[in-house]
Amino acid sequence: MFLIWLTLLVSAPLAEGAPEKPKRSALNQLTRTLLRKYDCGVRPVHNWTSITTVYIDLLLQSVLEVDGKTQSITTSIWYRQIWTDEFLVWDPEEFDGINEISLSSDTIWIPDVIISEFVDGGKSLPIPYVYVNSSGSVKNYRPMQVVLACNLEMYAFPFDKQNCSLTFRSWLHSVKEIDLALWRSAEAIANDKREFMNDGEWELLSIPSSYWLIHQDDTDYAHIQFNVLIRRRPLLYVVGLLIPSIFLMLVDVVSFSLPLNSGTRIVFKISILLGYTVFRVNLTDELPVTALRTPLIGVFFAVSMAMLMLSLTKSILVVKLLHHSEAEVRQMSVSACLLDKYGSVGHGFTESALTSTRTLNNINLSAEYDMDPSLEEDLLSLNEIQDAPSGLEWLLQELVSLRLALSQEDSETSAQADWLALCSRLDCFLFRFYLVVLISYAGTLLMLWASWSFA
Ligand SMILES: *[C@@H]1O[C@H](CO)[C@@H](O)[C@H](O)[C@H]1NC(C)=O
Ligand SMILES: *[C@@H]1O[C@H](CO)[C@@H](O)[C@H](O)[C@H]1NC(C)=O
Ligand SMILES: *[C@@H]1O[C@H](CO)[C@@H](O)[C@H](O)[C@H]1NC(C)=O
Repeated sequence: MFLIWLTLLVSAPLAEGAPEKPKRSALNQLTRTLLRKYDCGVRPVHNWTSITTVYIDLLLQSVLEVDGKTQSITTSIWYRQIWTDEFLVWDPEEFDGINEISLSSDTIWIPDVIISEFVDGGKSLPIPYVYVNSSGSVKNYRPMQVVLACNLEMYAFPFDKQNCSLTFRSWLHSVKEIDLALWRSAEAIANDKREFMNDGEWELLSIPSSYWLIHQDDTDYAHIQFNVLIRRRPLLYVVGLLIPSIFLMLVDVVSFSLPLNSGTRIVFKISILLGYTVFRVNLTDELPVTALRTPLIGVFFAVSMAMLMLSLTKSILVVKLLHHSEAEVRQMSVSACLLDKYGSVGHGFTESALTSTRTLNNINLSAEYDMDPSLEEDLLSLNEIQDAPSGLEWLLQELVSLRLALSQEDSETSAQADWLALCSRLDCFLFRFYLVVLISYAGTLLMLWASWSFA
């Protein structure tokens, strides 16, 4: 009872004075006290020789775009810088126990730490406040979307790794005024993947960092570099680019089993080539563009196209050989014999080609030999037709000429069959050669890509 009376007595004069002079909140009062004599253009140290150390920290949130043409990379990062402001110090006891307040970032001194590789600001949200605690430690946290210049190496696309650096430095102040340091340990920053959006095209490997001084115009400048090491996930490109192309090549290889003497093989190969061209035209946007070197995948497409052309040309050649006029068969088979000796085909064929030549010679000789007397006889019989019209003799002559024609036709078809066999052997030989080239090429590429993707 006595206590209540006493408090009423004490609070009465305060309650009377309140309506005339409204009391400021502790927060307001603290802000006013801190900023009353504050000059935001002056580095906040009492003794000018002391160094302001800015602690920086980085969290990579995502890799938005990697552009080989402009050699730039767009990333979204969470950047933190922390430093001590010797003028923003207070006793929490005096201000209602307030330990930390936020201040407008325009009203206090902010270090001019920037990223050297910066080429474009992107779309960063402006954060108008910084956080200050009673011992003068200022925390400036901001999310940033930055476009950085980066030396991108696209040769191994889509199995490439990129190493892009973010170098933080004070643009103007030497190390005697502003020094830099890491807020967390280098290992903690390197392996921090908490915030990284890990479902995109890029996989974050690590972010090693290093500190060094650069000597420029007799002054030293502090630098902290973060190397963002990222690796592309190739699955999308393997499924979308490589596999269809490999399928087309396989279909092309299988089309060698189509019969040689029907025209379908060439038509089929032309349609594959056409399909491949359409596929390539659709792809031009997806391939990275670099000024220096064509990525290996571009070479792969060009060589695949060349392979298809080669196989088509080969088929055309063989078909042209096959349809060579019969008159030239003889010379052709002689040259084929020569080819055979150097080709991988066995001896059996050489003999058959020789015999076919021989039979052709025989046929032509015998035809000349036999035909002339029969023709003479025909003429004779025509002369004698009025004298002795012998039907039997005439029939005999007709039969002889029929037999001759038939045997000639027979030998022609056998020569044609020989020729077809020769062409198929040539086709087979060329096919094997093509397969060897194709397999060695595919093997080399696979080894290269495998070594890159598992390195
Ligand atoms: C500033 O600091 C230096 C060394 O830390 C000291 O020698 C110098 O006297 C100080 N100056 C003032 C004005 O306190
Ligand atoms: C102010 O913040 C810094 C950095 O977070 C910390 O080291 C320091 O202890 C804090 N001071 C107080 C009084 O809380
Ligand atoms: C990344 O590049 C920096 C220099 O640009 C180099 O010092 C560092 O060794 C590179 N890191 C890797 C893993 O290649």
